[in-house]
Amino acid sequence: MSKAYDELKAAIVGHSPLIYVQTPEEERVIRELKNIAGDLSWPVRKWSSVRGMEGVEDAKEPVKALLSVIDQSLPGISIFSDLSAFFKDPLVIRALREVYSDGRRHNERAVIIIGADFDIPESLKKELQVVEVAPPDENEIAALIDAEAAAHKDLSVQADTVHEITLALKGLTENEISFVLNRAFSLENPSKDQLLDEIFAEKKSVVKKTGFLEFSPPRWDIKSLGGLDNLKNWLIKRRNTFSREALAAGVPIPKGLLMMGISGCGKSLAVKTISSLWNIPMFRLDMNLVFSGMYGSPEEAFHRAMKTIEAVAPAVLWIDEIENALGMDDSGQRISSHIFSSFLTWMQEKPPLVFIAATANKIQAIPAEVLRKGRFDEVFFCDLPAPAERDEIMRIHLLRNGANPDEFDFKMLRIMTDGWNGAEIEQAVISARTEAFYDNRKFNERDLTAVISRIVPLSDTMEQQIKAIRSWAFSRATPASKYGKSAAKSM
Ligand SMILES: Nc1ncnc2c1ncn2[C@@H]1O[C@H](COP(=O)(O)OP(=O)(O)O)[C@@H](O)[C@H]1O
Ligand SMILES: [Mg+2]
Repeated sequence: MSKAYDELKAAIVGHSPLIYVQTPEEERVIRELKNIAGDLSWPVRKWSSVRGMEGVEDAKEPVKALLSVIDQSLPGISIFSDLSAFFKDPLVIRALREVYSDGRRHNERAVIIIGADFDIPESLKKELQVVEVAPPDENEIAALIDAEAAAHKDLSVQADTVHEITLALKGLTENEISFVLNRAFSLENPSKDQLLDEIFAEKKSVVKKTGFLEFSPPRWDIKSLGGLDNLKNWLIKRRNTFSREALAAGVPIPKGLLMMGISGCGKSLAVKTISSLWNIPMFRLDMNLVFSGMYGSPEEAFHRAMKTIEAVAPAVLWIDEIENALGMDDSGQRISSHIFSSFLTWMQEKPPLVFIAATANKIQAIPAEVLRKGRFDEVFFCDLPAPAERDEIMRIHLLRNGANPDEFDFKMLRIMTDGWNGAEIEQAVISARTEAFYDNRKFNERDLTAVISRIVPLSDTMEQQIKAIRSWAFSRATPASKYGKSAAKSM
């Protein structure tokens, strides 16, 4: 039996007279309800505003249909589709309450409302038992894969590929799964990566509908991140935790990671590497849009974002500059405490397959509750890169810009870039390249040193702030760099 079957059956045999099933998957829920009714030997009837009530004359009108359950003392399961569209009508609310109290006297009866809305009228909260039906579980997904594979006769899918795509398909609805499998299995000899790409694309389009979650493509290799070895090793060690084998073996799943520190040191870039390293889709939550009011109240929009990300798990939820996201101003005062507290609660209760990757620049604005042990698995501090790390970063950007690192004097560049962050190193390389391009030639060491001597790094003008950030962070976070506290320039 599926998880959905179990959840629905528990509510029905628990004698809840009025059950609200929150789901976008009406067909699937009705099928499960019919299975349950069959197993209990109960009758089933359906109502919709256009078809009326099965077996009852002239009952398209919702109040009439609801009262027919009472007046005709109908046993079994009565299913009302989209009744939530009528929740604004006080007569419907009244009828539902009567159905509830009458239902309490009838054991073999359940009235079930199916709808996709999250919002339930305040006046019905006591009477309605809400069941949020989980999307297809692994067994159901496996059955769907079998069915689609059987429809594509030339196709053979390896067993280990089946395992991986099963996991990747989690969170999609039955229709979405059939749709994406049909599309993927129609490719000629699809490789595992092609199948996963198709599934990620489908998840991306599901999430896009919310408006404020943005798919972050798995485009960044961990090799594009220079230095920060402690952080990189942490990520690399956990690269297989979302595989089916690890999940089956009960390997603990990481909850989340917070990277804080000086800006321009690669925190956002580090997050971007996670999805290709771990092979799971990643979505960036745009809190500006959540707060914009374009998607209802910020609280409602935030709740919807959390529900959506749960639905497409396993996934990484990226919250960039979390101090703004949680509604903090510069001094750590809360502007929106509702969102803040619901975020903390959600982090505590969230399903294990959502991994949070958060970054923060204004680290003093992070309240202690966020840093408390158990919320994030690890809190890393990203300092200015150490000399050897600057070499690595320089090499990465030289190569990316078509230069040969062997033609550059790293010893000298190291001295010239004392106190620089990664973003500044990148900027210098790009400027050198642009200027040489203007003269129609490749850039060389002379171009680079000329640019470097013109740039004043942030750390020169922000010495005091950086000192403060360091002393605050070193007692609260793990250094992301393997050079630890001795990392950057001696200030
Ligand atoms: N450690 C690093 N290795 C390679 N590139 C870096 C590094 N740090 C910064 N950069 C470059 O600077 C850009 C901006 O860095 P970013 O990750 O946005 O910094 P932060 O989020 O810490 O402010 C990156 O996209 C990258 O090109
Ligand atoms: Mg950033």
